[in-house]
Amino acid sequence: MNILIIGNGGREHTFAWKIRQSPLCKNLYVAPGNAGTMMLAENINIGVEEFDKLKLLCLDKKIDLIVVGPEVPLVGGLRNYFEADPLLSTILIVGPGKEGAQLEGSKDFSKQFMLRHNVPTAKARTFHAHETTEALNYLETCTPPIVLKADGLAAGKGVIISPSIDEAKKEIREMLEHKKFGNASAKVLVEEFLNGIELSVFVLTDGKDYVVLPEAKDYKRIGDGDTGPNTGGMGAVSPVIFADTLFMKKVEDQVIKPTVDGLKKEGIPFQGFIFVGLMNVNGEPYVIEYNVRMGDPETEVVLPRIENDLVELLVAAAKGDLSGKTISISKEFAATVVLASGGYPNAFEKGKVISGITSDKMSTLFHAGTKLQDNNVVTNGGRVMTATGIGNTLIDAVKQAYGMAESIQWDGIYYRKDIGQDLLRLGSQSSS
Ligand code: AMP
Ligand code: GLY
Repeated sequence: MNILIIGNGGREHTFAWKIRQSPLCKNLYVAPGNAGTMMLAENINIGVEEFDKLKLLCLDKKIDLIVVGPEVPLVGGLRNYFEADPLLSTILIVGPGKEGAQLEGSKDFSKQFMLRHNVPTAKARTFHAHETTEALNYLETCTPPIVLKADGLAAGKGVIISPSIDEAKKEIREMLEHKKFGNASAKVLVEEFLNGIELSVFVLTDGKDYVVLPEAKDYKRIGDGDTGPNTGGMGAVSPVIFADTLFMKKVEDQVIKPTVDGLKKEGIPFQGFIFVGLMNVNGEPYVIEYNVRMGDPETEVVLPRIENDLVELLVAAAKGDLSGKTISISKEFAATVVLASGGYPNAFEKGKVISGITSDKMSTLFHAGTKLQDNNVVTNGGRVMTATGIGNTLIDAVKQAYGMAESIQWDGIYYRKDIGQDLLRLGSQSSS
């Protein structure tokens, strides 16, 4: 088949790497891609929201399957655009339509959805822009820390955790009255703070049946020991040792099944990934958020542990044919370290020449913000590359990842030094 991957991050490079291994894949394209994807596929310089250009590309290259990486084109209705066009309607798409994408595109929608289907989640109340007074009064009744969430997409920045009621009042004013996040904060959720350890669970569904992918833990803050500002993610590991069989059964029974059944009951078609952000509170799972795509950098540790032909699973999901499909997951550990531009997530420079790019079979270097310039691979974003290591133990995987990271250089390279260390401290890191 001819396959198009939409996006340009480490996630999309990892998809390209895994999809390339499938005998079902004939021609592979990535739009717009990066310097890593061009080693495996043909990059096409079209942005993820340029639907008209994507249409022409699909017709020209006779695309059979589209895998959508980021949320923006999904929330923007890429699937709906394709389904409405008779020339495109036979193309299989992994990624939901506008309605299903509301699970990520509107935190109010997803909260109400969870409540309707008894999915465990933090208590919350939603306030509109004209309800600032009510919101301020409500905050008086809350116990800090208080979680404020902009309803819409805010590039991962829309969640604020306030240490005091006064601080929360200031923030909610900024969000509702001064549109701190533009239209995304026209509605704000005030949410109860959950105290626990986070992890992410990934599901591939056709809207009726599903397979559960390996779980992962992300490291969101820029600094070692989870300090400093939030980022898109600075590293990830899989599996997550505290996600044992008992916990994962609770996740499946209390979260995954009710979510997929809920979509079906409400008549919301959904062919694609559901990324469930969870808090483990004393052994009980609570949903923090849904995303309608895979995570980045979680994909860089999740896909290497899947032993199936990924294209077979993607086609089955897109066709509504997942019933009876099973997933085979390697017992190996995977760890990934994000190599970032100095200064990220604040201002940073681009265009630095990267040296030391190598790859061997134990470790995998995925590109994110890179591009080819005058025959050099140069930095082209905040998160530049992710180095994934694979091993029989978490220690081995982390060692592989850091070995790879240390072999890469550019002026101003920065990465966290403690990916996986919290889980190693939790003890019981096991060998297969
Ligand atoms: P989100 O954008 O929903 O992923 O939220 C960003 C981060 O805020 C999450 O990864 C959590 O670390 C934190 N967070 C979100 N909701 C809560 C909550 N109810 N309690 C504690 N932390 C939260
Ligand atoms: N790493 C978090 C995300 O992809 O949303």
